Amino acid sequence: APLRRPQGLLEFLKTVRANPLATWMEAHFTAPLVAAEGVLGRITVVSEPALIRHVLVENAGAYRKDDLQRRVLAPGLGEGLLTAEGEAWRLQRRTLAPIFSARTVRGFEAAMNAAGERLARRLVRRAGTRIDVAQEMTRVTLDVLERTIFTNGPQNDPDALARAITRFLESVGPIDPLDVFGVPDFVPRIGRLRARPAIRYFAEIVEALIARRRAVMAAGEAPQDLLTLLLAAQDPETGEGLSDLDVSANIVTFIAAGHETTANALTWALYCLSQDPAALARLEAEVEAAADAEGRFAIERLPFAKAVIEEALRLFPPAAILSRQALKEDRLGRVKVPRGSVVMVSPYVLHRHRALWEDPAAFVPERFLGAAREAIPRFAYLPFGAGPRVCIGQSFSLQEAVIVLAHVVRAVRLALPADHPPVIPVQRVTVRPQHGLRMDAMRR
Ligand code: HEM
Repeated sequence: APLRRPQGLLEFLKTVRANPLATWMEAHFTAPLVAAEGVLGRITVVSEPALIRHVLVENAGAYRKDDLQRRVLAPGLGEGLLTAEGEAWRLQRRTLAPIFSARTVRGFEAAMNAAGERLARRLVRRAGTRIDVAQEMTRVTLDVLERTIFTNGPQNDPDALARAITRFLESVGPIDPLDVFGVPDFVPRIGRLRARPAIRYFAEIVEALIARRRAVMAAGEAPQDLLTLLLAAQDPETGEGLSDLDVSANIVTFIAAGHETTANALTWALYCLSQDPAALARLEAEVEAAADAEGRFAIERLPFAKAVIEEALRLFPPAAILSRQALKEDRLGRVKVPRGSVVMVSPYVLHRHRALWEDPAAFVPERFLGAAREAIPRFAYLPFGAGPRVCIGQSFSLQEAVIVLAHVVRAVRLALPADHPPVIPVQRVTVRPQHGLRMDAMRR
């Protein structure tokens, strides 16, 4: 594969800050592997399913998550499942796995429907106006997390928590060049200093919640939400529970990992549907038929809605890069991976790779139905990653996105205004539309 032209430092930093998606070149979308010497050393980008399987699964022990993600995320998230490494991660993963079992996720159906109904009511009220779709989707995914993690929110004031979460998330700024170059943590970062009050405020709210919930659990009256499940979780090997610090870090982690990602999946799905009347008509028919007497939904009755979400996740994968650092030397086919160098799998590149997808830029939900679905190689489609560090919230977020989508589609029809700026994907923390997404809502 062609070697990439080494970029100048300034050019590199500018592009990474503006939109990392713009750094992909033609070769990435056609070659199985592209190795390049950049300013940060060797980076190997892999898009061949068997080689990806090797890195993420078969030889996963020879890699760790690349340190940049950790440096960027850990100050806000603490040592939760997303940022922990080694033995600390293994212990947490074992302990947390049952919390996201199919049965528990199924149990959250009512909460997801309640959040979907609330959103639908708001959209119907605002029919005839222009709606900030990206913002509404962020709101509904936060609502789902609040209902599933805390049931009622702190002091029965869900908005207090929403405010704290929003402040906290807004305080997480763009990637700091000091982090990119691994400057040690004792060197202060302006962004981090700015974020500190919001992080501390949020941590205090969560600590208070944990203390109160422990008391309620002792009295045997706790709701079956994620907070109770986290506090009751036990390591299947040692029987030990999580410390309050671990519980708190994972609550923050679930919120950070689970809200903007799912919100973007929904935003992109609604955008794609607005460009494809046939798919929208098919979805509307499915949704009408699937609603129960109370107007609630279950994912099993919405196969086409699920295909729409999966296709949106293919074109616009919210997590655009899986990045690993080689702990020892490895080989990918004939290419040597030096110890310490970075191997990347980009779901964005992979999902648009011309050797793997027919007409990759087209929105075709039917790819994810029936026999066509079965024909997709497992390692050609990785919106949730793969291997030991695969997304623990995968079925949670699919169920959530499908149910919320159904509520939106049943409530209103959304049209992209003619004067909307171009809807282009940009990678900030997740992949979102560069200029947001505002659409005209019409009552159905
Ligand atoms: C990990 C994507 C929703 C919690 C991951 C990874 C990806 C991903 C790609 C693996 C990263 C890597 O290997 O480097 C997504 C997408 C979502 C989504 C696209 C929505 C559409 C959620 C939700 C939650 C969640 C709803 C929790 C409620 C996590 C956690 C990890 C993770 C805790 C770390 C797992 C570990 O390292 O053991 N996610 N995620 N995610 N995700 Fe998600």
